[in-house]
Amino acid sequence: MKLGILISGRGSNMAALIDAVGRGAIPSAEVAVVISDKADAAGLGSARASDVEAVVVERRGRTREEHDAEIIEVLRKRGVEYVCLAGYMRLLSKDFISAFKDRIINIHPSLLPSFPGLDAQRQALGHGVKVTGCTVHFVDEDLDAGPIILQRVVEVRDDDTAKTLSARILEQEHAAYVEAVRLVATGRLRIEGRRTILLEKTAAGEGNA
Ligand code: GAR
Repeated sequence: MKLGILISGRGSNMAALIDAVGRGAIPSAEVAVVISDKADAAGLGSARASDVEAVVVERRGRTREEHDAEIIEVLRKRGVEYVCLAGYMRLLSKDFISAFKDRIINIHPSLLPSFPGLDAQRQALGHGVKVTGCTVHFVDEDLDAGPIILQRVVEVRDDDTAKTLSARILEQEHAAYVEAVRLVATGRLRIEGRRTILLEKTAAGEGNA
């Protein structure tokens, strides 16, 4: 399974996926390309340091549709089958979503549907919730809203700041993203409406759909 990873910044989730693929934790997966919409994204350097091709597709001066068309072309040229959004901070166009229907995965730092959008950890603190976490989900046309693959819970402490809470969530994000992509790569998931159903393992360790 060829993966393309989209980033806008630090790229720690991207690095977790590259690392997992490198040590065989996501069977038969390959990271074909990393694409950033920002030339100064720190993740570009870490991708290249892991010998993964890293490409900048600048968004500036282009409509969302034009920008996405260029990204789709980069992905298709490399035979990418699944797209992982890893801190990619731009909404995708309808064309992008239909070009990779049910094959775009995102990670978000809250227990969706709570706190979609920007600054999810700050939103959680502001609301006073006692638990939050992260969600890995398929992407549909609505913001942070597609079928959920898995979630991990993180307790909110009384003395948490956005920084300390984000750091504990991020630790869970890395593990959750790897686990979710492993389920997809091994054919263990079926999408049924809003739900994803976990399939039994076969003798070959794959799903039975
Ligand atoms: C992560 O916390 C990710 O969940 C979040 O941005 C951060 C990127 O960090 N994504 C969103 O908020 C998307 N709505 P990273 O670049 O180190 O992976």
